[in-house]
Amino acid sequence: MYNRSVTCTVNGKKRTFMIDVRSSLSDMLRGEAGLDSIKHGCDVGECGACTVLIDGKPFNSCIYLAVWAEGKTILTLEGLSTTQGTISDIQQAFIDEGAVQCGFCTPGFIMASIPIIESDIPASRDEIKRQIAGNLCRCTGYEHIVDAIEKTQKKRIAERTR
Ligand code: FES
Ligand code: FES
Repeated sequence: MYNRSVTCTVNGKKRTFMIDVRSSLSDMLRGEAGLDSIKHGCDVGECGACTVLIDGKPFNSCIYLAVWAEGKTILTLEGLSTTQGTISDIQQAFIDEGAVQCGFCTPGFIMASIPIIESDIPASRDEIKRQIAGNLCRCTGYEHIVDAIEKTQKKRIAERTR
């Protein structure tokens, strides 16, 4: 039952969705916007598979009500690629470092890593681990994920200081 409209900016485009007032943001973005990078893992805020950025900060979209997104700016994995379909450096680093196996957790990890790689303050490996602690992976053992984030962070800082 649709009983409420929500207008927000998703991946750079202003969108209006008709939603059930009880819907989660992950339901709205997957079901109404067709953004399949958002995974339903636990649906209770424990695994991070549904992580998106809301006004620049990572949130578990499964426990964020869609109505709270009114007026917000949302970024999902789909928003990282160019319109020509070229993937971003952090996505490429996950591939290059072997940080993707089944891939279920990958979009959530990448979205959780965006504030780290966009920061001008270098994060240690321990700090990277702390910042992605809300994301779970059953396949990779985490080291390759941290490698990919650390590599991209160093690359971005080097590019900004050139
Ligand atoms: S599906 Fe949202 S935290 Fe697990
Ligand atoms: S790559 Fe399979 S759950 Fe992380």
